[in-house]
Amino acid sequence: MKKKKELKSEEIEIKSIAHKGLALGKTDEGMVVLTKSAIPGDRVEVRLHKKRKGVWMGLFTKTLRDSPHKVDPICTHFTICGGCSWQNLSYAEQLNQKETIVKDAMQRIAKIDIRMMETILSANPIFYYRNKLEYTFSNHKWIVDREAQEVDPTHALGFHRPESFFKIVDISKCHLQIDISNQIRNEIKTLASNSNLAFYDIKEHKGLLRNLIIRTNHLDQVMMSLIIAADQENEVTDLLEAVKAKFPSIISMYVGFNQKRNDSLFEVKFKKIYGEDYLIERLHHVQFYISPKSFFQTNTKQAEHLYGLVAEYANLNGTQTVYDLYCGVGSIGIYLAKDAAQIIGVEEVAEAIIDAKRNATLNQLNNTHFYTGDAKEIVTETLFERHGHPDLIIVDPPRAGLHEDLIQTLLQISSPKIIYVSCNPATQARDLLLFSQLYKVIRMRPVDMFPHTNHVECIALLERI
Ligand SMILES: C[S@@+](CC[C@H](N)C(=O)[O-])C[C@H]1O[C@@H](n2cnc3c(N)ncnc32)[C@H](O)[C@@H]1O
Repeated sequence: MKKKKELKSEEIEIKSIAHKGLALGKTDEGMVVLTKSAIPGDRVEVRLHKKRKGVWMGLFTKTLRDSPHKVDPICTHFTICGGCSWQNLSYAEQLNQKETIVKDAMQRIAKIDIRMMETILSANPIFYYRNKLEYTFSNHKWIVDREAQEVDPTHALGFHRPESFFKIVDISKCHLQIDISNQIRNEIKTLASNSNLAFYDIKEHKGLLRNLIIRTNHLDQVMMSLIIAADQENEVTDLLEAVKAKFPSIISMYVGFNQKRNDSLFEVKFKKIYGEDYLIERLHHVQFYISPKSFFQTNTKQAEHLYGLVAEYANLNGTQTVYDLYCGVGSIGIYLAKDAAQIIGVEEVAEAIIDAKRNATLNQLNNTHFYTGDAKEIVTETLFERHGHPDLIIVDPPRAGLHEDLIQTLLQISSPKIIYVSCNPATQARDLLLFSQLYKVIRMRPVDMFPHTNHVECIALLERI
C-alpha cells in the first residue's frame, strides 16, 4: 500500500486578510501561506498542503499565540456559516486591514501616490446593517459536531455552507438584518416542518420550498417572498396566512415560482399574494421603490454615506451634465439629480432601468434619462452628441472593473472629472493606471459597506491633467 506523504509543519505569522475568509501568513523565512481559522496578529502552526502560483495552502493545526486584535464573535454560527468570516477580528483592525488592501493595490498596480488617500469610512452599525437576506431551504442540513445527536437532518433553512451548493447551515439567529428577519424565518421553518411541506433537494430536484427572501426598509417594514419549485401556490396558502397574521409588519408578500435547476432569480416569476407592490426605501433626500427582484444597495445606512461622499466629490451646482454609468436602479444619479442640469444613466439590466425610470418619477425628477445596454456599446459619440459633453462621468462597475474599450472612449471624450466607485480595488487600480495618461487622482477614500467580510469599496475622484 502506498504510504501517505507526511505534510511538513510550519509556524506562520498571520499578516493580513485574504479572499474567501482565508488568512495570509508568512514563515520567518518569508514563505507565503494561506490558511483558515486564523486572524492577523495570530501565530499559528499549519501543515503545508499544496502550492498554487507560489503560495502554499496550509492546514491549520493550532494557535501558538493569539492576536491582540482577537474579539469574541457574537454569532453562534460563526465559522460554520460562511457569512461573517472576520467577526472575531476587532472592527478597528478590520478597517485597518481593508485600508491596507486598498493602499497596496493603488501603490503596486495603479502606481499612485497614496498620501492623499483619506481614512476609510467606517460603518455604523456594524451588525443588523443589511436590508435583504436570502435564505435557502434544504433537506440536507449541515450537521456540526456538537449537533451530531440531532435526529432531523432533513429540515434546514439558512445559508450555504462555504463552497457547498447543497449543504445548508440551519440558522437560528443571524446578526446581519433586524431581528424580525430571524423571527419570520424561524416561524416559517417550524410551520413548514409541522405541515410536512417538502424542503427542496437541490441534488435530486425534488421538494417544494426553495428560498425565502426578506427585505426590510428604514421603517422596519417587511417584504417577504417565498420561492417554491412549482406553480402550486395553494400548497403554501395556509403557511402564508399564518405568517401574515403573526407579523403585521409584513406589508408585502410574494410567491416566486422557480422550476430551474439553480437558485438564481433570473426569469423567476413573482406573484403578489398580499399587500403593497413595493417597499419604499429612503436614502437621505430621495426614495426608491424596492420590488422583489430589484437590485439595491444592501447596506442602506452606508449607501447614504457612500452617495454623500460621491456628492461631495462631484461638487455640483445645478449646471452640470452628469453621466452615471453602470447605474443599476439609478440610485447615484437620482441622489445627485437635484444639483445637476441633467443625469444620463446607463445599465445593462432592462428591469433595473424600468425601476430607475419609476424611481425618477417617484422623486419628481424631470432631468434624468436612462438607457439599457452594455456600457461599452451604449456610451458612444452619439450618446454624447444627444445629451452634450459631460462635466462629470461616474462609473460604478461590477468586480471585473471597466472594459478597456470603454476606458478608451472615456479618454477620448475627456470629461473634466470622473468619479470611480469600485467594489474591487485590484481592478480599480488596473483601470486607474490606464486613466493616468490623462487624469490625476485628486481624492480617494475606501468605504466599508460590509463589516466582518473582506469586501471593501473605494471611491476615487479623477481630474483631467
Ligand atoms: C456595482 S453595481 C452598481 C449599481 C448602482 N450604481 C448602485 O449604486 O446601486 C454594477 C451595475 O452594473 C451593471 N452592469 C454590469 N455590467 C454592465 C455593462 N457591461 N454595462 C452596463 N451595466 C453593467 C450591473 O447590472 C449592476 O447594476
